[in-house]
Amino acid sequence: GKRVGILTAGGDSPGLNAAIRGFGKTAIGHHGMELIGFRDGLRGLVEDRWQPLDGGALAGILTVGGTILGTSRDKPHKMVVDGEVRDMVPTIVENCERNKLDAIVCIGGGGTAKNAKRLADAGLNVIHLPKTIDNDIANTDTSFGFSTSLGIATEAVDRLHSTAHSHHRLIVVEIMGHKAGWLALGAGIAGGADIILIPEIPYSIESIAESVAARARSSRNFSVIALAEGARNQEDAADLAAAVALVKGASTAEARSAANKHKATVEAAHRDNAFKLASSLEAATGLESRVTVLGYVQRGGTPDANDRLLGTLLGSAGADLVQAGEFGIMVASQAGTAVPVPLEDVAGNLKTVPLDDPWIRAAKGVGTGLGD
Ligand code: F6P
Repeated sequence: GKRVGILTAGGDSPGLNAAIRGFGKTAIGHHGMELIGFRDGLRGLVEDRWQPLDGGALAGILTVGGTILGTSRDKPHKMVVDGEVRDMVPTIVENCERNKLDAIVCIGGGGTAKNAKRLADAGLNVIHLPKTIDNDIANTDTSFGFSTSLGIATEAVDRLHSTAHSHHRLIVVEIMGHKAGWLALGAGIAGGADIILIPEIPYSIESIAESVAARARSSRNFSVIALAEGARNQEDAADLAAAVALVKGASTAEARSAANKHKATVEAAHRDNAFKLASSLEAATGLESRVTVLGYVQRGGTPDANDRLLGTLLGSAGADLVQAGEFGIMVASQAGTAVPVPLEDVAGNLKTVPLDDPWIRAAKGVGTGLGD
């Protein structure tokens, strides 16, 4: 049988262990493969830290949150080693050869897809399994982690409703999602948020204040606002877009570094967005305002049934694809089926919410304000 290495990289997400188990049980039980698990994402691959994953190691992990392998956000071509940024791709290739690996399985989000492609470009047999709570990976209907996180965020919106209502307050709840609005939009719709703010639709504070005031006039003197962490008001969004354009347009390494510094300054000025929004709205509407930042609670704990199923489905299909020798691919979920898609169609290709998405239409349909 083949000898395969597996790792989890990027932010943790519910369903990672289901995917490791799904891959591992199928690989070992059906294809007679031998599996080893690298610790802490790509860092373990560089430092050659791994553990054998046999049936015993894979037992009892389906329902466990996080990842039994540990994770990190290291990039293989730009890794900090002994205080220096270095290209560690050649070391990874050497370690894969020394460990006689026929394939390497990377489980991660958009960043990991790019890194998986870097390893594939260096000649390794790589497959990628899509996980992220953000749902922002291209060419897959969804990724494991999203459903659980959506459930947690929805429950939070529910709970905040009763306290906002009782105190006649405005509550801004900040929901994760990186640069995409899927989590805030989904939880906002499912939890019945009064206003949903997402990165894809820069908001106007005046327009939000008007919606909140209109509610108060019709004797609903409380509001719950679901704010995606990446959402910006129109002015800040324009500043950020200009900073991003500078980075993209930079033609020399120096210009790029200066543009990146400028972008970081712009982003830093947008921190505490939720608090700024709440105090502007309190000033504009007179409604007492509070903020709840959901944070890492959205990534923790046991996966729900959807994420257990999806992790198992994609993991198991991944083992079949490795057996068939299909590499340089991500195992996507499309219309309920596991489908291989080329890594180059995924890497660097962020899936944000299209303005004509059915969820946007539904939110508008039920009268939810989108801040525009
Ligand atoms: O990608 C998952 C995610 O939780 C995003 O929603 C968020 O922007 C980011 O990770 C937070 O990253 P970190 O774990 O590095 O704080």
